[in-house]
Amino acid sequence: MNELYHPPRHIVRNANVKDYEALYQRSMEDPEGFWADEAKKLKWTRKWNKVLDDSNKPFYKWFAGGKMNIIQNAIDRHLETWRRNKLAIIWEGEPGDVRTMSYHALNREVSKFANVLKAMGVKKGEIVTIYMPQIPELVIAMLAVAKIGAAHSVVYGGFSTEALAARIDDAKSRVLLTADGGFRRGKITDLKSIANDAIQRSPTLEVCICVKRTGHDVYMENDRDFWYHDLMNLPIASPNCATEVTDAEDLLFILYTSGTTGKPKGLMHTHGGYAVYTSTTHKYVFDIKDEDRWWCAADPGWVTGHSYLVYGPLINGTTLMMYEGAPNHPYPNRWWSMVEKYGITVMYTSPTAIRGLMRFGDQWPKRHDLSSLRLLGSVGEPINPEAWRWYHSVIGGGNCPIMDTWWQTETGGHMITPLPITPLKPGSATKPFFGVAVGVVDENGAEVAAGEEGKLVIKTPTPGMARGIWGDPDRYVETYWKDYADKGWYKAGDSARIDEDGYVWVIGRIDDVIKVSGYRLGTAEVESALVTHPKVAEAAAIAIPHEVKGNAIHVYVILRQGITPDKALEEELRETVGREIGPIAKPDKVIFAESLPKTRSGKIMRRVLKARAMGQDVGDISTLEE
Ligand code: PRX
Repeated sequence: MNELYHPPRHIVRNANVKDYEALYQRSMEDPEGFWADEAKKLKWTRKWNKVLDDSNKPFYKWFAGGKMNIIQNAIDRHLETWRRNKLAIIWEGEPGDVRTMSYHALNREVSKFANVLKAMGVKKGEIVTIYMPQIPELVIAMLAVAKIGAAHSVVYGGFSTEALAARIDDAKSRVLLTADGGFRRGKITDLKSIANDAIQRSPTLEVCICVKRTGHDVYMENDRDFWYHDLMNLPIASPNCATEVTDAEDLLFILYTSGTTGKPKGLMHTHGGYAVYTSTTHKYVFDIKDEDRWWCAADPGWVTGHSYLVYGPLINGTTLMMYEGAPNHPYPNRWWSMVEKYGITVMYTSPTAIRGLMRFGDQWPKRHDLSSLRLLGSVGEPINPEAWRWYHSVIGGGNCPIMDTWWQTETGGHMITPLPITPLKPGSATKPFFGVAVGVVDENGAEVAAGEEGKLVIKTPTPGMARGIWGDPDRYVETYWKDYADKGWYKAGDSARIDEDGYVWVIGRIDDVIKVSGYRLGTAEVESALVTHPKVAEAAAIAIPHEVKGNAIHVYVILRQGITPDKALEEELRETVGREIGPIAKPDKVIFAESLPKTRSGKIMRRVLKARAMGQDVGDISTLEE
């Protein structure tokens, strides 16, 4: 905890923010003034009446009365400047095909597709589900939906039928945008077949637009399914399309994420506050300059992809890199070869990816000239100091500060993060971003002493914070705001400690959320997937620390009467979870049990299972029924 890395002098000299303390203090004393100053840097159709409307807590509104469509800032305003001809996207497919698009070209594609969507009857306010591999059309689709004032719900391309169908159903989507498939580890992922199955279960779905990426045979249903390239060649796909005027508080997207109970919840984000928050954090945390080549290696299907692959960077007029496939395909130097080839200056990825690549040894990155890199980033889970040091010394050559950014789908953007000028401690996300006040509290909501572990809370409203849960406002209050309702604090669901220097150390989730390879899953989802199997009576899922993935899922299964467990059934159950949720959710271990530890009220005590599995003291089990 005492290891300290000072930023190189040239970074400090050129940093976008040179005095963290002063600006932080300003943001605390006058948060509305701070955010108004940032908002003024963006383009608005009409200026807001009020920066923060907190008349209906915790449903905060930002830039109320203002009119802004995020596309005005992500695309339109760049067309009026030299950035029109700047590269917006450099994309490389896994097989090695490359596509690039200037802001001018991106605008044409987005406008054409926006007109296609309009011709398909997509209306303002409607939610369009997007289920695609990491191809440029995924970004084009998101932007086109936003441009016409509709909202998108992107479902991660690694999810399976059940997960996709549940999300289409919850959003009541009429239109699904997908692709025949994508390339991953040299194989084709058959997205259209999964989409076809999901559509069968989705009564609201009428239209499916499919991008041809792999060209393998897929089933297309007459009058329901349309090829993207066919539609884009019709006269309806005109490259001229005015950006719809939207209120700052109009819905931009919903994004589903796992929680403690039940089905995933769709967090809502809106145009104005989200645009301000993602662009501000991106610019200050990653010190973005016009000459940068930015690579966020996250999938757009997750919040990191939304905020820092698509919106933040495009609003800042950045050239972004996007890659379709696996980091180690065909060899473990794939990423590093692309850093060299495209001259990437700032790279943002997850601890799990770093650990995964570190395993292959230094010789792979060492084959490449990575000297274009200036800054590195990490997100998704705590980064262990060993991985941090490797990333810092081997990838960053010892002179690229690592921005370890703590945030959540709910927060829309970075909450606790270093700036390039911050002295770093490996494993700590360091300090709160401007406008963010955090605390670590005990069971009673009282602040704990420095160095002590407790629950992480956020004390200030921020423009990027979710506006609620789609279709379930009560659950939003219940999940995040109820525990500290008297103080108006937000419960993050993480445990953390703050050291004597004010550095925040996030330890991990304290609820029933599991982070596997940085992906967020709920124990409840895994358990309900298991009980869909006819031989399973009951199941409990827990997270066990894993060297590369951060956590692995172990499940305890009680079989129905008369069923004998065997190896084949174990595999069948793993497959069931893979089919229901997606391959990332497959348990590493299936343990057959006779009974599960439960409280008298029937709640499974996962804590007891976990302690036992890890050979630790099971702690207080006085509430245990059996
Ligand atoms: O537990 C924290 C962990 O990821 C959770 C949020 O997950 P999700 O909504 O999927 O968003 C991930 C990308 C922002 C948090 O509650 N987490 C995220 N970043 C960090 C982290 N834990 C420690 N350090 C981080 N930098």
